[in-house]
Order: sequence, then C-alpha cells, then structure tokens
Amino acid sequence: MASRGPLIVGSGIAGLYVALRARELGLRPTVVTKSRLEESNTRYAQGGIAAAVGSDDSVDRHLADTERAGGGLVDRSAARVLTEEAPRRIADLVRMGVPFDTVEGHVALGREAAHSRSRILHAGGDATGLQIEETLRSRALAEGIEARERTVLRRLERRDGGLAATLSRDDGSGVETVDTGAVVLATGGAGGLYQYSSNPSVTTGEGIGIAFRAGATVTDLEFVQFHPTTFFRDGAPRFLMTEAIRGEGAFLRNDAGERFVLRYDPAAELASRDVVARAIHLELRRTGAPCVWLDATGIPRDRLFARFPTITRFLAAYGLDPSRDRIPVAPAAHYTVGGVATDLEGHSRVPGLFAVGESAATGVHGANRLASNSLLEGLVFGERVARELLHPTTGGPAEFRRRATVRLGPGRGRPLETATWAELRSTLWREVGIVRTGPGLGTAVRKLAAILHELEAATPGDLPSPGSNVALTALLIATAARTRTESRGSHYRTDHPRPVTAWQTHLGLEVGRAAAA
Ligand code: SIN
Repeated sequence: MASRGPLIVGSGIAGLYVALRARELGLRPTVVTKSRLEESNTRYAQGGIAAAVGSDDSVDRHLADTERAGGGLVDRSAARVLTEEAPRRIADLVRMGVPFDTVEGHVALGREAAHSRSRILHAGGDATGLQIEETLRSRALAEGIEARERTVLRRLERRDGGLAATLSRDDGSGVETVDTGAVVLATGGAGGLYQYSSNPSVTTGEGIGIAFRAGATVTDLEFVQFHPTTFFRDGAPRFLMTEAIRGEGAFLRNDAGERFVLRYDPAAELASRDVVARAIHLELRRTGAPCVWLDATGIPRDRLFARFPTITRFLAAYGLDPSRDRIPVAPAAHYTVGGVATDLEGHSRVPGLFAVGESAATGVHGANRLASNSLLEGLVFGERVARELLHPTTGGPAEFRRRATVRLGPGRGRPLETATWAELRSTLWREVGIVRTGPGLGTAVRKLAAILHELEAATPGDLPSPGSNVALTALLIATAARTRTESRGSHYRTDHPRPVTAWQTHLGLEVGRAAAA
C-alpha cells in the first residue's frame, strides 16, 4: 500500500504535535499507535513543561540549568534551540487549547529540582500530561487525521528511494507493508523494559531497535534516568510522586526521620534527579529498608490538595492523606535519555527516517535530563520535523568519535514467553540500574544477547517479532552501559566511579558487519 503522506509512529506529545503541525502545513499524515490514541507516556506526566516565561527568568538561565544537569555532555546548539523556542511552542499549545493553570490571571509556574527559577507550567494541577494528550488527541480527531490504533510497527527498510514500513495488528495478524517517503518515529522511551518503572506498559522502546536494524545510529542509551520518588507498596503500581512536591517544600526522610539527602548533596531534595535517586539507592542499601519517606506534611493542606489532585486521589485509595501521612517512595526507571541519533531537524542516518521526542537523541539532555524538559523536547523538535516534512532537506547526526557495534544474526524464532519477559526486565533492573558494576554489565549483555538469540527470526529476512525488537533495545542499552567505562550523569559504575575526559563525548552504536569469510 502506498501512503499519501508521512507515517508518524506513536501518539504521545511528539507524535500528535508533529501530526497536527504537518496537517496545518497542508500534509496528510497518518498516525500509527500500538494501543489507543490517548495511551502514551505523555498522559502520565505530572510535573509539567519547562519554559523561560517568568518575569525573573531568561532563556540563558534555562539553558545554563539544562547544561548543568547534563553532566558535561549537553549539545549546546540543541539546548539553545530547546530553550529559545520553548515560549513559542508553549504559545502553540495555548492556541491549540491546553488549559495551563493560572494565578490571578498569570500563568502559574512551579519549581522542580535543579531549576534555578520557577519555570514549570502545569495544567489541572498535576495532570499536565493528561491535559496535553487530551487536547492534542481531540484536535487530531477534529482535523480528520487518520489514526490507526492497535497497530504495531515491525520493520523499516529502505526501498526505491523511500521507506517500507511493515505493520501488523497488535495480535500479530494483518501484516501489511506501507511505502512512504517519510517515517517519523515518536515511539517514546524504554522505561517499561525495567522491572520497576514509573512508565505505563506501552513504553517498551522497540522503535529504537527497529531504527537500529534499519541502519540508524543509536546513542546515549547508557543514560537511563531513574525517578527518585515513585509510590512504594507491595502490589501497588510505581505511581509517580512528582518532583514538584519537593519543589513545593516536601522533604525526603529515612526510617529514623533524618533528611539523609543532605549527606549526599547540599542541594538536598532539589539536587538533580540522578543525585537524589542515587542517594536514596545508597540509603536503602545502608539501612536495609525497602523505601524512604516523602514528607509533605509541612505544605498547607489546601495547597497540597489543590496543586496535586491526581496524587492526593491516588493516595486516598491507599488510605493515605499526605498532609498527615508520610508517603513511602523508592526510585524507578523513568526516562530514556538516549535513542535514535538525529540532527536538530530530526534526521536520522537513514534517509527519510526521522525521530523525535523520547525515542530520539539530539544530545539536548547530555547525560541527565533536566526535569520537565521532556514534553518540551517533543514540541520544539516536533515543530522542526513538521517543517522538514514539508520542505525536505538532507541531514543526519554528526559523526561519532566513539562507536561500538552490535551484531544481528538469525536466532531460534521463539515467541516471547512471560518468564523470558520477566528475566529481561529483572536483568535490566539488577545489572543496568541506578548503580552498575563492570561484571554486572557483562552479565547483562550476555543474558540479553541470549534472550535476543531465542527471539530473533530463524531465517534472515523474516519479519522480526515485536519481542525481538524489544529485546534488541534492551541489549543496546546494556551494551552502551558496558562500553562507557566512566560515571557521568545518570550512568554510574562502581568500577569507574568518576567522569573521564576521554569519554566526554557521545557513544554511537551501529549494526556490526559479519566477519569476511
Ligand atoms: C515529575 O513530575 O517529577 C517528572 C517530570 C519529568 O520527568 O520531567
């Protein structure tokens, strides 16, 4: 089947925004999504979206905070684009109908960790992602944008100067190939590959593996961001307890009631996310406790309930009132800093293949993303991709000074069983988690390569299964983490506990060539 316009894969903020802007520019995009149109990581984003719109703020301050959080690896030109174009993209969201919260007629701005100013716009208190997703979704439907739900991307191939995208229904039936000039991957991150994650179950990162198979370079996958505070109770989901609660003045305490993060960093609860997550991890290891406590009892009750309605409602279902009770929390996988390497217009190394949002890596986050820069990234680079779709040019990411390869070969063609899926997720959590070791990373690479071998098609050229695409992404994450022999940002290894100057660069992963016979 020939597609009439660009094929956009994914329906979070990045995918829907590209689709809407492409439509406004006169194109006929089709959105493909593996679940329902409204289901994506975006929907669960609480804190908000960062932009220097306050009277005490500036693009330079936002840029400086983004660079400081990024562990020496932020691509300055990408971060300048992000911060400079942020206010215009927020204005676009307002024009599209997103109801940002206001105070006395002015946009309300929250504070989050590692921001030097209050600059987080929010909507519905802590329901920012839901408000954005619903607004973009209803607009996309009103604009008549074609949406194909419960449809899974299985493979991308270059064909006749364009791309062939093979899709199937989510149950594996109805396989078809669509020929198109442009595919925009907006498939999100891979947080759901971890045993414990703040993300919904759709975030399995297969877009990254699919692009890699098609010849794209992937980068920065070793930088997995762990959110410090997700709800901790046996049998309960790891529901996000937004950083904005700490921005409003909540503290973290151990079982003894101590504000232990002060021992790790003077900025304490407002230190960058990697620092706070690591501090909690080490404290849990030191004390043997299963969780620490988020203490929001100092925030006035009215304020707490008005600003965080989603969270207070969630906690009520567990019999907790945060104005009175401390909240049990522990870190969980949250955000994939790396992804498909692109330039600032979203071009990957494969002509016609774009990536945007969490599935892309422009270098804008360096080694550790600043809070609330992720929804923003989807918008700012989404606008650039939409314009590029209208007037295509050539481009791609810069060459990588450090590169590694991962070989793809025929496997055993087995289906992904529940036990294998559990092993994949626990391997990533245990060995490629908040604190990593050289031997643990070696174990992870071996185990994940063995899992991939089980799932990979037995005959070269056969259609990869969804399970093999997911396992490939997991292996790429572990390989990147094993290759980077230093600690930087959200990547921390006990055998290389400090940053190394020679590693102040991005690592590109590419498909390995078979050895000559
Ligand atoms: C949060 O609300 O704490 C998460 C925000 C983010 O991931 O940027």
